Amino acid sequence: MTTKAKKATRLPWDKLLQSQGFGTRKACLQLLDAGLVCVGGEPVIEVRTPVLADELEFTVDGEPWRYREQVYIALHKPVNYECSRKPSHHPGVLSLLPDPMLLRDVQPVGRLDHDTTGLLLLSDDGAFIHAQSSPKRHVPKVYLAQTHEPVSEALVTQLLAGVKLVDENQLIAATHCAIHGEHALELSVEQGKYHQVKRMLAAAGNHCVSLQRTRVGGLTLDSLALEPGQWCYLDEASLARLVTF
Ligand code: URA
Repeated sequence: MTTKAKKATRLPWDKLLQSQGFGTRKACLQLLDAGLVCVGGEPVIEVRTPVLADELEFTVDGEPWRYREQVYIALHKPVNYECSRKPSHHPGVLSLLPDPMLLRDVQPVGRLDHDTTGLLLLSDDGAFIHAQSSPKRHVPKVYLAQTHEPVSEALVTQLLAGVKLVDENQLIAATHCAIHGEHALELSVEQGKYHQVKRMLAAAGNHCVSLQRTRVGGLTLDSLALEPGQWCYLDEASLARLVTF
């Protein structure tokens, strides 16, 4: 994340494009030679002269881009997409992003099941991914679960008190839990264990029929106004919300 004062970045165009995921330097030089990289509508000519990269806006084959040292992305994950880099049964979430994101090694922060929808963060900043995923941070993740059996105050009490999951020594509890309808429950968890919410509901005697992640830290899916499959870059204000909750 860009919190500390930073030295200006100057790069020749081939290196600049490579850093943004447009392929090898040779591939980037080919884009430049073909006149496909423009600034202010004019093709870049001086390809080897270092330019001030920070915030630089340009187009590649007509598509607008802005130089970003690292990218922080929010995706509204649709149902039937896998978070794995090598998906096996469904398309991968990375296929919802432009190709350069793959080449610059953007990865999901944690995973959502293929049938879970909602807020998924992605980045190419390893330190950010690690910090967000670390259990020590206690970042709340809020889910809206639709359940097979009706929900009850007793279920809420049980989830808040903690339930025993197979292979876990300690009880796992929701940090917040509220009824959202006859068959709907909102709950917040701080860990990111495999199928955690579904297993918690099953351990409490109910069954999760659908699951949506509505918030990570203080950042809500609603505030981003993304339709399923849509994504956006996270600006400084949104990144700050991730850590204020
Ligand atoms: N808990 C689950 O069971 N599945 C998810 O995708 C996320 C949390």
